[in-house]
Amino acid sequence: MAADKRLSPEDRKRKADEGADTDQKQDESEEFALSFADGKYLSHLTGCRSVENYERLNFVDEGTYGRVWRARDIESGTIYALKQVKLSKESEGFPITCLREINILLSLRHENIVHVREVVVGSSMDLIFMVMEYCEHDLKEVLESMKRRKQPYSPSEVKSLMQQLLAGVNHLHENWVFHRDMKTSNLLVTNGGVLKVCDFGLARQFCDPSHDYTSTVVTLWYRAPEVLLGDKRYSRAIDIWSVGCIFAELCTLEALLPGKGELDQLNLMSKMLGSPTEEIWPGMSQLPNARKVKFSKQPYNFLRKKFPTTLTNNGFDLLNRMLTYDPEKRITASEAMKHPFFTEPPLPVDPSLIQTFPVEHNRRKC
Ligand SMILES: Nc1ncnc2c1ncn2[C@@H]1O[C@H](COP(=O)(O)OP(=O)(O)OP(=O)(O)O)[C@@H](O)[C@H]1O
Ligand SMILES: [Mg+2]
Repeated sequence: MAADKRLSPEDRKRKADEGADTDQKQDESEEFALSFADGKYLSHLTGCRSVENYERLNFVDEGTYGRVWRARDIESGTIYALKQVKLSKESEGFPITCLREINILLSLRHENIVHVREVVVGSSMDLIFMVMEYCEHDLKEVLESMKRRKQPYSPSEVKSLMQQLLAGVNHLHENWVFHRDMKTSNLLVTNGGVLKVCDFGLARQFCDPSHDYTSTVVTLWYRAPEVLLGDKRYSRAIDIWSVGCIFAELCTLEALLPGKGELDQLNLMSKMLGSPTEEIWPGMSQLPNARKVKFSKQPYNFLRKKFPTTLTNNGFDLLNRMLTYDPEKRITASEAMKHPFFTEPPLPVDPSLIQTFPVEHNRRKC
């Protein structure tokens, strides 16, 4: 689809965003065309070096959008992660999810966000790889391993990881990017205890006031109530809800709200946090799916009971503010970073002192 060259880049971007609600596919292909028409991102994909500059060592993992390998830069010997972009045979062209991921990751630079070094190509143009800094673990695998060993993170380790997570998310939000798929498998942890947000396949730039966005975002267990109720004008607050679920999981090693479907997810929330009402969340009853869901009356918040000893009052207050139904009242990343939880004892440990585990995923041979 050709972009309308008479429009300014800002107008074209706005036009693409306005189309998001009615026809997301159109929005995506238009945005794809716009990026290329503007020539803004073309440089990332043309003149790329060859993947032959890297020696593939072993397979790490396969996600929805790509396969990840551990590889060595032949010249320098440095280890990197190569994420191979899955190009579907049915649809032509470069997937928008991947283009967004590359664009966003190349535009962000922060200690707590995975760094993309370059994009390289294989023998044919349909073999494309993102070269990223390599991290030894993802948080999902770490928490599973801790559960097996019955060796959870200490409160000061949890605090350090939460501080790093919030710093990464705050950087995204300050740069008008929301992630839209925050979960433990999308958080990498190095052997030096540094946490890095990865997998920007669903991330995108947002505006304030908000536009309409697709509701098919965020893995169910970490999905905010407004997304479940069909709100298309959601904001960066959806990431904070997910961060709250991750915070709870760091403390208990169990997913906080492991729903089996969208309705079940809302019911679990209601049982744990009390049923949402128009009083505590003005505007909730107007959301597209609100009439389809009948919450049984449950006026109590049982969240504190889940963390009798693992969280101090300040820790619980922070968690409760992240898991606030009304996205307008939900704490922001920058407010959360200043919460007294982070300055009361025990203080967060230096990342280098966070316990480490043997690397599991780079042992798997290809
Ligand atoms: N830079 C990296 N270093 C080490 N491992 C990585 C790196 N990036 C990703 N991985 C591993 O590969 C997995 C899949 O990567 P990623 O989440 O980016 O792909 P995806 O296809 O979008 O995944 P999904 O759809 O499953 O969320 C991660 O959960 C992590 O275990
Ligand atoms: Mg992922």
